[in-house]
Amino acid sequence: MFDWLTRWSKDNPKDIYGPGILIGVVGGAVVVATTLVMLGQPFATDSMQTGPRGTGMSIPEFKADLAKPYPDIARFAATTSAPVVPAAGAQRAGDAYPDAEPLLADLTVENYDRLIAAMQAWTGIPDLLAGEETYQTLVARRMIVMTREINETWSGHVNAQAEVGVTCYTCHRGEPVPSGTWFKTGAVNEAAAGWAANQNRVTPVSQFTSLPSDALEKYLLDGETIKVHDLESRVANQPGDPLIQHAERTYSLMNYISNSLGVNCLLCHSSRAFYDPGQVTPQWSTATLGIQMVQELNNTYLVPLAELLPPERLGPVAGDAPKVACMTCHKGQQKPLQGTNVIGDWPELATTSGTPVYN
Ligand code: HEC
Ligand code: HEC
Ligand code: HEC
Repeated sequence: MFDWLTRWSKDNPKDIYGPGILIGVVGGAVVVATTLVMLGQPFATDSMQTGPRGTGMSIPEFKADLAKPYPDIARFAATTSAPVVPAAGAQRAGDAYPDAEPLLADLTVENYDRLIAAMQAWTGIPDLLAGEETYQTLVARRMIVMTREINETWSGHVNAQAEVGVTCYTCHRGEPVPSGTWFKTGAVNEAAAGWAANQNRVTPVSQFTSLPSDALEKYLLDGETIKVHDLESRVANQPGDPLIQHAERTYSLMNYISNSLGVNCLLCHSSRAFYDPGQVTPQWSTATLGIQMVQELNNTYLVPLAELLPPERLGPVAGDAPKVACMTCHKGQQKPLQGTNVIGDWPELATTSGTPVYN
């Protein structure tokens, strides 16, 4: 039936590939362009300006990421409830329950029950502080004292811009063992001594770079000086001058800080002058307080936990207690839980005085 076509094709040879490719390419481009116009550009970015115009200080962010809901915020909302303003003569937990937790015995019965239930949900430990003296009870007591200390003494960090604060949930997120803690690493390169043994091998603490793996230990536990820049010549190498190794360690810490907050260096510094405290952002000051806060939390509350925690909770190399740092609260976000106010409902955890202010 199609003989005529076969014959006609043989007599009139045509190169259909050239036009075919052209039509394919143009058609494909039209389809892609139409899809982008209809569905939106998936890689569109917004940028957050962090410094004066013209200095290039900004942080690009994917719009698609910004629009994503963060499930932990809804999970927290499900566990929080407004405090019950105590009526005159309301019964205290210490009088109602023979085995009330001593740290919380002064609370009214309603607020006591409310707080215990919330702390159980926040830490994922259903019998937390249920009257029995387990190691978890002993740890929880220290954690209550620590949380109050954070909210009161370090208010300049945790309420730097607005009331945000921290509760057990900020670190624990419904799990007994919070994510984003760290241990001492020891030598990461057994075949070498000295500085070479703490760097040039990728580890999570060095953010998978070849920078030193002991930055958290030196700066957030031992309190060594972070400064690496000065504008003097290093030829004479005066005592106390920072060495190249200290610069590497500082960069290791700065990578850690940036990743913990999900930002780049420009949230805090002007990259033309990392050394100059006169060219930093307000966040730099909040971060400085954060560094001091973490040093105190580790030395006062976390390190001594080694006596209470069972061996399987301790560090694999040095047998040390798990320690906190920026990641433990921030979990990769500029503000923990994107700046959700977690303390507003919980005056019981906001003050070290033991007599919460309800209003
Ligand atoms: C700044 C972060 C932070 C906050 C806030 C915090 N914790 Fe912790 N908590 C930790 C770390 C770190 C550990 C040690 C984890 C481990 O045991 O490996 C821990 C351990 C615990 C443990 C022991 C868990 C186990 O099974 O080993 C309990 C119980 C606990 N916390 C209760 C609380 C309670 C209750 C609150 C609130 C009043 C709270 N925590 C607030 C960081 C925090
Ligand atoms: C969240 C804020 C923040 C971010 C993000 C940050 N830094 Fe820092 N940086 C600081 C603070 C605060 C100090 C000062 C610490 C101190 O003096 O105790 C500092 C100190 C430094 C220093 C030492 C300055 C000196 O005086 O010697 C260098 C270098 C540095 N940062 C580089 C970086 C780099 C590179 C990045 C990105 C990878 C970065 N920082 C990200 C807050 C930040
Ligand atoms: C105990 C929990 C906790 C720890 C640990 C912590 N932070 Fe924060 N941080 C917060 C909270 C809560 C806020 C929100 C304060 C606000 O917006 O009022 C915050 C805010 C900040 C901000 C301000 C962000 C902005 O855009 O205004 C910076 C910068 C920051 N933290 C840096 C750090 C660094 C660096 C570390 C580690 C050295 C650290 N934080 C450790 C809880 C913590």
